[in-house]
Amino acid sequence: MSEPLLRALTRLRGVLLDEEQLVRAVASGHRRGGAPKPPWRRAELRYVDLKAGRRLQSVTFDATQSFTANHAPGDAARDAVDDLLDLGFGQWEVETLDEVHRLRVNKSGEAVVTTTRREAAETAPDRSHDRAKDRLLPEDHPVLVALGISDAQGRVRSARQAKYRQVEEFLRLLDGTVTAALESGKLRRPTVEDPLRVVDLGCGNAYLSFAAHAHLSARGLPVRLTGVDTKAQSLRHGREVATELGLGADDVDFVQGGIDDAEVAPAPEVVLALHACDTATDDALARAVGWQAPVVLAAPCCHHDVAAQLRRAPTPAPYDALTRDGILRERLADTLTDAMRASLLRLEGYRVDVVEFVGSQHTPRNTLLRAVRTGRPPREADRDELDMLTETWRIRPRLGELLER
Ligand SMILES: C[S@@+](CC[C@H](N)C(=O)[O-])C[C@H]1O[C@@H](n2cnc3c(N)ncnc32)[C@H](O)[C@@H]1O
Repeated sequence: MSEPLLRALTRLRGVLLDEEQLVRAVASGHRRGGAPKPPWRRAELRYVDLKAGRRLQSVTFDATQSFTANHAPGDAARDAVDDLLDLGFGQWEVETLDEVHRLRVNKSGEAVVTTTRREAAETAPDRSHDRAKDRLLPEDHPVLVALGISDAQGRVRSARQAKYRQVEEFLRLLDGTVTAALESGKLRRPTVEDPLRVVDLGCGNAYLSFAAHAHLSARGLPVRLTGVDTKAQSLRHGREVATELGLGADDVDFVQGGIDDAEVAPAPEVVLALHACDTATDDALARAVGWQAPVVLAAPCCHHDVAAQLRRAPTPAPYDALTRDGILRERLADTLTDAMRASLLRLEGYRVDVVEFVGSQHTPRNTLLRAVRTGRPPREADRDELDMLTETWRIRPRLGELLER
């Protein structure tokens, strides 16, 4: 049943200002019928305990960023609540210790409110203020909602927990690498006129592309991201998500094509290639070298090429025990492939390390090659090391062929 909006919002205001009872409130959407759109895609309120005492925390989200403010109880909290209630959001979901209120504004501009009771034990409110701070992309970030990792209430879906963990781990690595490269001058400081050019080769559904764009933008780094994939469906999905987030082609664009030959111009400065299959990772690394990209992050996927070569070639003494059983041979192939990729990148003037991407308890594909271009000339010792490896095992890494080394 509908009721006058003002009456329902006044009731809601009392609930929002009850610091003992309120667990969390989320405002989203906009009212129909020509009412001005709120400047935020969504807003969230909860009480947090800071050193200075309890505060009403508001987090507002635009297409790519979130903004947090803490308001002292009393006038400041009342003003913050009133400002949000005035903004013309179309829905409110307000959780208290024992109830959930859902308010929706209907076509006639009236409120439809439903209230459901909940088990008290479920709802101990989390008042810690730094919960979201540990996250590079908070659970309720619009990008995660648009990608379907989080639900409309801004909570990571249980089936998408692993993806969220992967996004966070990846952002942590990206953040550290970009920060170090900027500080050491290996990466230029981008400007609004000339944003950082990032390419995601084999972007798939572009989870990591959008996450990278959102995180770098939130850090104040203007960024233009290009996703490349052979699959038309991936690109359609990426474009739909970009539209939903209000991002234009100057922010995020998608190119259908192979990693080895897709047209990406001007040359990207940060090259991402995450779980591109088999030798597609070699194609990505070769492209990065061709572009002289200052920063490269590549998480290899399967390593069939070297595994097949190991099966065909006689195993050198005394290493039979390493290749007799399939599982060990596969793991050896993974290790050899990535070690040779790292060596080849070093010969191309990159400082390279191979690090864990996500914990091995979550996925076996948990290696990441992190390379920063220093331009150092190749060293004889590196060349010799690579030669000995390929001659001993009688293998020819695909990246070596592509780079003609
Ligand atoms: C396992 S998915 C990974 C997607 C995404 N990078 C991620 O980590 O969530 C691999 C993607 O790479 C794409 N891909 C594989 N080989 C490719 C190639 N040679 N050129 C372009 N895309 C390729 C596939 O179509 C697929 O979407």
